[in-house]
Amino acid sequence: MSNSIESVLVETRVFPPPASAVQGATISGMDAYRALAAQAERDPDAFWARMARENLQWTKPFTQVLDESKAPFYRWFGDGELNVSANCLDAQVAKGNGDKVAIIFEADDGKVDKITYSQLLARVSRFANGLKSLGYKSGDRAIIYMPMSIEAVVAMQACVRLGVTHSVVFGGFSAKSLQERIVDVGASLVLTADEQIRGGKQIPLKPAVDESLTMGGCEAVRKVVVYKRTGGKVDWTEGRDVWMHDVEAGQPDACAPVPVNAEHPLFILYTSGSTGKPKGVQHASAGYLLWAILTMKWTFDARPDDVFWCTADVGWITGHTYIAYGPLACGLTQIMFEGVPTYPDSGRFWDMIARHKATIFYTAPTAIRSLIKACEGNPKTHPSQYALDSLRIIGSVGEPINPEAWMWYYKNVGRERCPIVDTWWQTETGGHMITPLPGATPLKPGSCTLPLPGITAAIVDETGEDVPAGNGGFLVIKRPWPSMIRTIWGDPDRFVKSYFPPELKGYYLAGDGAQCDTDGYFWIMGRIDDVLNVSGHRLGTMEVESALVAHEMVAEAAVVGRPDDTTGEAVVAFVVLKRSRPEGAEAQAIAQQLRDWVAKEIGPIAKPRDIRFGDNLPKTRSGKIMRRLLRVVAKGEAITQDVSTLENPAILDQLSKSL
Ligand code: PRX
Repeated sequence: MSNSIESVLVETRVFPPPASAVQGATISGMDAYRALAAQAERDPDAFWARMARENLQWTKPFTQVLDESKAPFYRWFGDGELNVSANCLDAQVAKGNGDKVAIIFEADDGKVDKITYSQLLARVSRFANGLKSLGYKSGDRAIIYMPMSIEAVVAMQACVRLGVTHSVVFGGFSAKSLQERIVDVGASLVLTADEQIRGGKQIPLKPAVDESLTMGGCEAVRKVVVYKRTGGKVDWTEGRDVWMHDVEAGQPDACAPVPVNAEHPLFILYTSGSTGKPKGVQHASAGYLLWAILTMKWTFDARPDDVFWCTADVGWITGHTYIAYGPLACGLTQIMFEGVPTYPDSGRFWDMIARHKATIFYTAPTAIRSLIKACEGNPKTHPSQYALDSLRIIGSVGEPINPEAWMWYYKNVGRERCPIVDTWWQTETGGHMITPLPGATPLKPGSCTLPLPGITAAIVDETGEDVPAGNGGFLVIKRPWPSMIRTIWGDPDRFVKSYFPPELKGYYLAGDGAQCDTDGYFWIMGRIDDVLNVSGHRLGTMEVESALVAHEMVAEAAVVGRPDDTTGEAVVAFVVLKRSRPEGAEAQAIAQQLRDWVAKEIGPIAKPRDIRFGDNLPKTRSGKIMRRLLRVVAKGEAITQDVSTLENPAILDQLSKSL
């Protein structure tokens, strides 16, 4: 659970939206919000049908709205057909937005590239034609392992234009994680780049693809398409590897979008769960895009002259919904950034907002907290040094934002005139679920406030009964919504078990603990399962444990989270080696080896911050590891709980010492 629970629960400040934000907003004022929510409540089918007709272009109109006959495998608009890429690109060109800039891409070194909607449509079409000529078609699956680039968006859009389901893997994942995803998703195509550039460093990508394809199980992969980002040297497998520019070359600028069923899997995105194996969250085409569009309009109050900037990577759900799909389907100009917030200095975000005149800025609390610290050390990079007056809405996503960071963001970036939209949602929900509306909702620092219209969020106990205001419980969504996860790819049983446990009356279980205050505002308290949130990234403790025990020196490992001022949570690993417990410099060296090993097994984001060696782990007499106690030990706090059920209470002392 989050480190900020205690502080948020005493939070009493309320910030009503400024008149300038209310005026002309898509949802203007609380009465408008309540009226829309009431419509959705009264007749959900009519509400969603109207939204889907008004916001999507269908090649074959739907006649069914929600099909619950196979619940919880819900279907939405199930007899309709459309193409998501056509809704994002062709629709904009048809509306007269062809010459409007779709993406302002800023490279790590500051070089700026702009692409208009017509140009983007032509590029996507050429690349899609190229993929078609390589034999790819609707129903195939492609892995995308690419850096932040216009080319990554081209790759995603070209896939969906053909009905190819994509699965984007974050460029920070290791060859092994990549291979697991290639195998699980059954990919026949991999799209990658030679290298990526972040913070002035060139980081190879293609070698990880090469390595993953030698690990076995990837025989279905016929082609590896490589975007030449840096021109760095790469190994080449003739017949398999092909440059992206060669795939595009000579192809016509037009490519008819392939109509697919509304439920056609648009993409599969892997996320961590409470077992060692990541879950392939499968999203459908129509419902997902509908929610991407509606949340752009409602949460971000998207307007034609906005310059939108979401700082997430396309490898995460935020980069899918609020870079690759939502902003394009709404015809906005958006900024896309290759680099990191601290290069060349920690004023980079503010400098970019000022130069590109961003109007909506959406980032993660971890980034805000690290920039607060950085500008304390280097006042020249404080947001006050930059012209941020173009901003009108600022957002937060991925983890709870503590009230101190919220106030800093509100005052220094939003200058007390930009509402903060603290958006609660998940890979599984496809888009925002609980969030303030900038032109309506009075804000309370640290609360994601109220559910969007049509979203039946509630806090319940373990039997599915609503708990009274002020009591903690499980966050659930009582009714299905269009952009919900459809299944876990290849594992429908796990889907039902994870999200629709029978004791919860068929409600969707989010996996977060939360509570509502007497105004109906939601306060997220953190995960209730064995999932950590490190810098806004989900990480399963079991995944890290499996990686550690796969090392030849390790006999046993237990991983827990520790609250951290910057990253939200930090990974702490308790390790028992097959040999005797190391001490001093030797312990340091082995810890470093294990950290590097985890980076190789999963990716650098999973590296334990702190590793402690013990002769054993605290266990009950039946052999169960007491993670509850390890969490206390990891925080450096004294154990006040009863330890009489422990087989070996003395071990706690040994584990309480950092290396
Ligand atoms: O615990 C919640 C936290 O992030 C989890 C979802 O992670 P992921 O699927 O990676 O998606 C992140 C981007 C949407 C949630 O279960 N979380 C996300 N947003 C918030 C949050 N916790 C508190 N406040 C938020 N605004």
